[in-house]
Amino acid sequence: MRMNDKVALVTGAGGPMGAAIALRMASEGADLVITDISGTRLAETAAQIDAIAGRTAGVLVQRANVLAQEEVQALCDAAHDRFGRVDVLVNVVGGIASKVLYQPFLEISEERWAGTYDINLSGTRYLVRAIAPGMIERRYGRIVNVASTDFAGQWGHADYASSKAAVVSLTRVLAMELAPHVAVNCIAPGLISTRAVDVIPAAKIAERIGHTLLQRIGSPEEIAAVAAFLGSDDASYITGETLRVSGGLAAAL
Ligand SMILES: NC(=O)c1ccc[n+]([C@@H]2O[C@H](COP(=O)([O-])OP(=O)(O)OC[C@H]3O[C@@H](n4cnc5c(N)ncnc54)[C@H](O)[C@@H]3O)[C@@H](O)[C@H]2O)c1
Repeated sequence: MRMNDKVALVTGAGGPMGAAIALRMASEGADLVITDISGTRLAETAAQIDAIAGRTAGVLVQRANVLAQEEVQALCDAAHDRFGRVDVLVNVVGGIASKVLYQPFLEISEERWAGTYDINLSGTRYLVRAIAPGMIERRYGRIVNVASTDFAGQWGHADYASSKAAVVSLTRVLAMELAPHVAVNCIAPGLISTRAVDVIPAAKIAERIGHTLLQRIGSPEEIAAVAAFLGSDDASYITGETLRVSGGLAAAL
């Protein structure tokens, strides 16, 4: 119960990774604010938390589009009204703004480029702006961002890889600027079994597994375990770091 007395806000909590993080933190004693753009998926996660962690009290469920600053502000206001603070912020929302997963740089449209940067960076920016001042004031905070091993470079992912590199860099800058009482770290997952992976061609998945030392895809729960560690006081002397959780995926290039 290392997250007892902590309030954690998890974005993208309707997806497998966000849901696993929320469940893990709830089972470690945290009060939760869970949010997603999909009210339906969010309700499923809330039900799972209720069933597995055995509690409904201490969970604020609020649908929000994290790319809309006013919705993020309303979410943070609601969190404050309910719990008085947010101690741990986990920014899970991210992805590629196109159904075409792998596309050479020269073919990527302006719309896709801007959309991918938006989804990987804007929500995190709005949430940190809204929540970090309270963390600084209370002299306690943990922020965990989610990048991708692609931050190191990946063919066909110029928009996604470079925007995730920006998440890694933003993590380091925030760690510097919010120190000494707020720690900011980042998880860079490899291939994880989520909806995003369902649409990757089997041959591409096999190729990735071939480059992975542990010879398999990871699970959302394996990301959740690391998020709970970085969000807890077990990680009290870690800030500005990006931790690859990839089963030993070889360098992307
Ligand atoms: N799945 C992987 O293999 C993998 C690998 C590396 C990194 N990642 C990163 O992990 C994170 C989660 O990925 P995932 O595969 O679980 O994604 P996912 O699409 O399965 O889930 C993401 C959730 O975020 C929600 N969401 C999307 N846009 C939103 C918005 N504007 N506002 C609020 N909620 C929104 C979706 O409704 C969904 O429930 C992303 O940042 C992704 O880039 C995933």
